[in-house]
Amino acid sequence: MQIINGLNGLDDAMAALRSGGARVAMVPTMGALHDGHLALVAEAKKRADKVVASIFVNPLQFNDKGDLDRYPREEGSDADKLAAAGCDLLWMPTSDDFYPEGFATTVSVAGVSERWEGAHRPGHFDGVATVVAKLFTGIRPNVAIFGEKDFQQLAVIRRMNADLGLGVEVVGHPTVRAEDGLALSSRNAQLSAAERAAAVALPNALKAAAAAIRSGSAPADALAGAVSSLNEAGFGPIDYVAYVDPDSLEPLEKAQVRGRLISAAFLGKVRLIDNFCVEMDTV
Ligand code: PAF
Repeated sequence: MQIINGLNGLDDAMAALRSGGARVAMVPTMGALHDGHLALVAEAKKRADKVVASIFVNPLQFNDKGDLDRYPREEGSDADKLAAAGCDLLWMPTSDDFYPEGFATTVSVAGVSERWEGAHRPGHFDGVATVVAKLFTGIRPNVAIFGEKDFQQLAVIRRMNADLGLGVEVVGHPTVRAEDGLALSSRNAQLSAAERAAAVALPNALKAAAAAIRSGSAPADALAGAVSSLNEAGFGPIDYVAYVDPDSLEPLEKAQVRGRLISAAFLGKVRLIDNFCVEMDTV
């Protein structure tokens, strides 16, 4: 696996990778890679001839400086994991490369970014959209793979990609879960043993709410049930538990054929997010 630090040599490396008309898939990451990221690389390998991963801990998307400082940085072992997974090129730009003195452009996606994560983490999605636009511009991939765990992020990136005409096929990959059902996340490492044991209440609460909606409960009742399970398990504050349209992320009051349950809640100091699909043949 070739590693490009910064911007020097990137264009030449990409031209070599694309020679002979090879299709390129990209897996953008912030590092601290786990099996969820490696599943994205495996998906990328199925969809293209060459795979490029990026590692960049993007300061623009952290609305809390402490969160940015605590974010794990494991570039050495990350590179080993990516090489073993069959990645062809790892790109690691720096903050100075991406946001040099005088940098003044923000990509802001209205609508789909505004509720939920957008409301609780002001500026977060501007940071995500801006950096993904820069990552796509640097690599110009045919296809890019993102995890569905960050469900709203995926919707924001799809909108940005379509609106700016970037021409990338944006693919969402199902959330990879631990054996007990907790979604894999770089943040799970920050949970104490007791918190890690309690954390499974989040997927369980969403799964139970999905089953309740499917069997005819009013979404408001299903959501109230999920909130009380989370409270009982020691979560708090709960930022949101919502039943939404999977494309617009607008809340749904009545069950629909296609819906999504989304949630974010704190367990101690760690903020966890998760989501579940709620699909039905008829309503
Ligand atoms: O999901 C992530 O890891 C990040 O938000 C992304 C898409 C790499 C942008 O920094």
